[in-house]
Amino acid sequence: MSIVYLNGEFMPKGEASISVDDRGFLLSDGVYEVTPFYGGVGFCLDRHLVRLERSLRELGILFDTEGLTEVHHRLVAENRLENEIRALVYLQVTRGVAPRTHYFPVEPVRPTVYAFAKPWERPPEDEWSQGFTAITVPDERWLRVDIKTISLLANALAFQAARDAGADDALLVRNGVAIEGAHQNFFAVFDGTLVTHPESNLILPGITRNVVLELAGECGIRVEQRPICVGELFDADELFFTGTTGEVRPCVQVDGESIGSGLPGNVTVALSQAFLNLVQETKEGVAAVG
Ligand SMILES: Cc1ncc(COP(=O)(O)O)c(C=O)c1O
Repeated sequence: MSIVYLNGEFMPKGEASISVDDRGFLLSDGVYEVTPFYGGVGFCLDRHLVRLERSLRELGILFDTEGLTEVHHRLVAENRLENEIRALVYLQVTRGVAPRTHYFPVEPVRPTVYAFAKPWERPPEDEWSQGFTAITVPDERWLRVDIKTISLLANALAFQAARDAGADDALLVRNGVAIEGAHQNFFAVFDGTLVTHPESNLILPGITRNVVLELAGECGIRVEQRPICVGELFDADELFFTGTTGEVRPCVQVDGESIGSGLPGNVTVALSQAFLNLVQETKEGVAAVG
């Protein structure tokens, strides 16, 4: 049985229990992070923890994140994931246990902290090289999706709609703009220029998105951060999503229409390779130090 972390303790998952009065359960009053581990080495863990701190601050949840780096590493070790090609640590912090009210607990309560680790697999290379499909789905999320809250119902409904339609991913559309995926950020390539929605209250500031923007800079790829209209999608040469478990994920078809050549394009492939190279360098860097 897997070992999980709950409120300061590591325990078998079957022994972990949370109060029915937890505000995460009753009100989705909490935030989370998912951090990838490659061969047991955390990738951008510091950036994930900085984003977690921001999410907590935005919701006024008072919780000191010190010690969470150690929690991540110990979960990976306890679950014997050091040699897994890919693993992740999921960590969530809710406001805590209190009588159900729409206002915050008057007396301070201790936030509930829960984390688990598990392996995950990237789809096989032949699927990757064919690319993935998406459908457009109305973005029905609230207007602060820059906060990584556990309130993911609109994301889940959008992703389910894509699955029901036989597509791999959902592309969320608000006011005629292709915003991002249900759990990934979104990029287009027009004439060699990489375009993605700017950071705002309408997108999650993805860690993978930022890494890819940095890699694009290093590769000499021109970058523009601006909204992408749905009408433009079909003139794009390439589309791709980015995310912790999606990495750089080519999208070759939207709403049944092929994009560009109908296969992952050069910019997508170059950035995907640059991303995997960085992962490898990170692993080797840690091995060399430790
Ligand atoms: C809505 C949304 N956008 C983008 C992302 C990608 O973020 P990251 O690259 O930090 O995983 C996620 C990840 O969960 C997400 O839920």
